Amino acid sequence: MEITAPGKINLFLGVGRRRGDGYHPIESWMCTVGLFDKLVFERARRPGLDLASDASGLSVGPDNLVRRAAEALARAGAECPAATVGGLTARLHKRIPVGAGLGGGSADAARTLLALDRLWNLNLGRTRLQSLAADLGSDVPFFMGGPSALCSGRGENVMPVARPRARCCLLILPPYPLSTPRVFERFDEPGGAPKRAAWSEDQALEAIGRWADLDAAGLMERLFNDLEPAAFALRPELGRLREELEKRLGRVVRMSGSGSTLFTLADGMEEGEALAKRVAEQDIRAMAVELGVE
Ligand code: C5P
Repeated sequence: MEITAPGKINLFLGVGRRRGDGYHPIESWMCTVGLFDKLVFERARRPGLDLASDASGLSVGPDNLVRRAAEALARAGAECPAATVGGLTARLHKRIPVGAGLGGGSADAARTLLALDRLWNLNLGRTRLQSLAADLGSDVPFFMGGPSALCSGRGENVMPVARPRARCCLLILPPYPLSTPRVFERFDEPGGAPKRAAWSEDQALEAIGRWADLDAAGLMERLFNDLEPAAFALRPELGRLREELEKRLGRVVRMSGSGSTLFTLADGMEEGEALAKRVAEQDIRAMAVELGVE
């Protein structure tokens, strides 16, 4: 069984003060992008999961999200009479960079839950799968659906919303990763959080309603990411790169999630590809991908 897992960008990301459980409340408009990991599952005689990946430096041990998803599902399967849970080999072909704010690990986990629910004949149902997804990570529930949703709580409350009219996303991929917990820690330090007042879910939904139909340049002007100051404090060269790109491209550039990916939007693929070429001239990895893939 072969499946793909798309990345995402946070079109906007509002972040509130750290909660008692250590997480931060967010309001984020998330949208899938056409950059995919591939996963190949095969049943095996040996019990357990034999997981391998072509990504150097990515652990395939107990902390790997594909492994954690498969194990959580195998445990849940013990309650299903028709279940055919068994040994498995999984090959993960990583194309979404790690530590990039594109949700690659979360996407892999979500699509593993959906795939193995079918392969093992579990039929756990939407609510149960969504709750297993939330246990695996804040971004995982988004990838159980997509392509465009408002995510709130710590990310686990997912409400499908309209896709932006812009059809193309230019991803700019710096050669260094950023650690999500580190960025949130820096956000908690004095001067890390933005002055912006936190949004309610209704305000966020209302904004999406007004903005979804804007053209790429108009939408980019309204987008924001409250984690940018914290990420740029940790990696000043990322903040400088964003400024340079905005000048060079003549359009707004934002960061996705906790970074390090930067992005801008284009109305169509041709325009996005022309922008990608201009960024690549500076020896920076950039790619134009479809925005809002299923
Ligand atoms: O949920 P996940 O395991 O992906 O989160 C990784 C880390 O990011 C958390 O341990 C926490 O430090 C931070 N985080 C947060 N608020 C969120 C999501 C993540 O503080 N809404």
